[in-house]
Amino acid sequence: MTHFVWTNNLNTGQPFIDEDHRKLVAMINSFHDLIEQGKGRDVTGNVLDNLITYYNVHFTREETEMQRIGYPLLQEHKQEHARFIAEVTKLKKDFDSGASINPTYMARLLDDWLRNHIVKVDTKLAAALKAAK
Ligand SMILES: [Fe+2]
Ligand SMILES: [Fe+2]
Repeated sequence: MTHFVWTNNLNTGQPFIDEDHRKLVAMINSFHDLIEQGKGRDVTGNVLDNLITYYNVHFTREETEMQRIGYPLLQEHKQEHARFIAEVTKLKKDFDSGASINPTYMARLLDDWLRNHIVKVDTKLAAALKAAK
């Protein structure tokens, strides 16, 4: 399956946000590599754990900045983060209780969410941060 390719519209212009996003993309792409090597099912649990950890760090960074500038869309943006963490946590729980999760499906879900969230939600935050400086 295709890897997550970084495209120009993913650059928000806020270095701390872009660096975190590139790191997340790298994590997702190493998952794609492992799927290609046929190791997808073996690493799914670990991949989900690592992603949950890093997403939490990243979301906290964004939310701290939203608070700092009194960002008007803070609640909505925070809710999007919380919903995604809940979704991935549920996947991990299902996986731990023996459900078979198709790694390719999972990788696609991770790709789609991140791309969509960056373009539709994070770019607005980045613009507000720029204006607030
Ligand atoms: Fe965000
Ligand atoms: Fe983000």
